[in-house]
Amino acid sequence: MILAANFKMNHTRASTRAYLQKLESIDKGDVALYLFPPFTALDNYDTAVATIGAQNAYCAQSGSYTGEIGLEQLEEFGIKTLILGHSERRHLFGESQELITKKFAFFKEQGFTIFYCVGETQEVRESGSTELIYSYIEQQLEGIDVAYEKLIVAYEPVWAIGTGKTATTEDIATMLEFLRTKTKRPLLYGGSVKPQNIAQILQVPECEGALIGTASWNVDTFMTMINIA
Ligand code: G3P
Repeated sequence: MILAANFKMNHTRASTRAYLQKLESIDKGDVALYLFPPFTALDNYDTAVATIGAQNAYCAQSGSYTGEIGLEQLEEFGIKTLILGHSERRHLFGESQELITKKFAFFKEQGFTIFYCVGETQEVRESGSTELIYSYIEQQLEGIDVAYEKLIVAYEPVWAIGTGKTATTEDIATMLEFLRTKTKRPLLYGGSVKPQNIAQILQVPECEGALIGTASWNVDTFMTMINIA
């Protein structure tokens, strides 16, 4: 079971350190925990309770890429885990599938664990066409090595992210079943996961965990969900 906390643009170095200190107290059982703090809160945290990853990075060791961080900066903190293809990178910041596949190839080469996000928009979902939803997701998998042994795929319908509108367990089951035809790698769900719904979500066939945003920003809430898992 995998539970990952995507802090997005929340938390500081100090609050991330405090978060981790409190998280150390949990008996996480066989749940693998991942924390994705903002760039400024990346550090060599001496922690065994969770793997620290980056929410994004550019596909180069270093160089003239204003505003970006690359391998050199991640290596300083021993970071070897990364989210790629997040819908906010795609739809808010305009990352193309071409750029995402370049990033995937680069960080795969470096042996990174990659949390790769796919998910349809509200418009595609409301089309009511399952085929259209499938082909949308297939486009997001184009150029990706779906057999990569350090790949984790997160199905995150855009319309469920940060909205409080969670996909139904039937929707999740349908989409994870489809993704299972594409990859044997672990499949997660993301999109308004919270203590009230995480138990049902984790019972969906093929669901091996969750990539959580809002509900993970408070350590007590995240710990509640770990105890439920
Ligand atoms: O990466 C996880 C995130 O996109 C889900 O966000 O706030 O709906 O849990 P949230």
